[in-house]
Amino acid sequence: MTSDNLRTRGLAEPSLAIAGGQPVRTRPWPTYDKGDAFISPDDEVAAYSAIRSHRYFRYDDRPSEQTCAGRLENRLCETFGARHALACASGTTAITLALLALDLPPGSPVACPGFTFPATPSAILLAGHRPLLVECDADLHPDLHHLRQVLDDGARAAVVVHMRGYASDMPAIMDLARSRGVRVVEDAVPALGARLRGRYLGTFADFGAFSTQSDKSLNTGEGGFLLTDDEEAYARAVVYSGAYEGRMQRHFPGGAPAVDDLAYPIYGFRMDEIRAALAGALLDRLPQRLAAHRRNHDYVISGLAGQDGIALRRPVADGAHLGDALMFRLPGATPAECAWFARAVAAEGIDARALGDPGCVNVRAFWHWRFLVGADPVRARAALPRTARYIGEAIDIPLSANLTLADCDDLVTAVTKVAAAFRRR
Ligand SMILES: Cc1ncc(COP(=O)(O)O)c(C=O)c1O
Repeated sequence: MTSDNLRTRGLAEPSLAIAGGQPVRTRPWPTYDKGDAFISPDDEVAAYSAIRSHRYFRYDDRPSEQTCAGRLENRLCETFGARHALACASGTTAITLALLALDLPPGSPVACPGFTFPATPSAILLAGHRPLLVECDADLHPDLHHLRQVLDDGARAAVVVHMRGYASDMPAIMDLARSRGVRVVEDAVPALGARLRGRYLGTFADFGAFSTQSDKSLNTGEGGFLLTDDEEAYARAVVYSGAYEGRMQRHFPGGAPAVDDLAYPIYGFRMDEIRAALAGALLDRLPQRLAAHRRNHDYVISGLAGQDGIALRRPVADGAHLGDALMFRLPGATPAECAWFARAVAAEGIDARALGDPGCVNVRAFWHWRFLVGADPVRARAALPRTARYIGEAIDIPLSANLTLADCDDLVTAVTKVAAAFRRR
């Protein structure tokens, strides 16, 4: 919006930092890309010890349980209650491996939400399949009616995403998928450690895929893992990830299933020992990190509840979110107005972004995915009109696990201040 527009619409209130007023805070809002990390000296010790061992490759002459990657996988199985875990190179490769392991015919249509990070449809493409985008509802969860339609139109599998840490309705989605014989992969990348009705996200579907990139609950810079109870599909995923010359057998101390490891290509999607050591140490402190996210999120939500014009994103069940992001919509506001709102909150010292900002590409807005939807964003938006609208109205604010309650107070004050001016526009 131009400053003239602002003035005529009453958004240039001098108290707002965006209009030259005093900001709520001047200290930077802590985010991972500014160096904010939930790492303790114990985690550093674990990583140094792997470095000092000079054994960086998981498949050397040690048995699996003596490697950092093997130990990490065992601990992930215990933590999440899964039969099998595979440490790998990233969240994208974890989703890809899961899809490859499902052994679908090449070029299969695979459903995926229209509200996600572009790595999700990218992984479907990498696995040789065809993403079919599904509408989301007003809370930015997959729209089950549209999902049903896409499955009935022939999708062979679905990748379900717990976007920005909020659970999708897995029991309902699994019922839908099972009734149609469709396999499901959970992209639990944004929700590592979050639960839905007591059960960890990433354990509802045939596979759960996770990332350990720096913005995730376990931060090894890059990395990921997958979980499954399906022994044969797991063996295929292990081979695809780069376990050659019988190395796949090491993942099955009690005997491997009859999977021919020369029948599949190997893609080198493995995790190295240094990352695995770091991930193992971080896993010890995951409960503290999850509790911090929960505390911050609940505190902020209670501070913003009931404000006119702000539709806080509702979880599908009580507590079914990670808590590392605050999301709300400004119902009825245009994308330009939402962009102004986010910039006004950012000027107050809180890193807010409007996901549909017309002046600044946010890759979570599907109409920018030219690799998938083509060059015409108007046409792309018309194909998923509700998702386009809800993303256009969405404001997103990262909530670090290291936030203090004073930081959270700043956030509530800043959003409340901007929202009050916004209502008077
Ligand atoms: C929903 C979602 N899926 C997949 C990924 C990809 O994870 P990675 O960067 O580890 O490949 C991301 C990354 O943030 C994501 O947000």
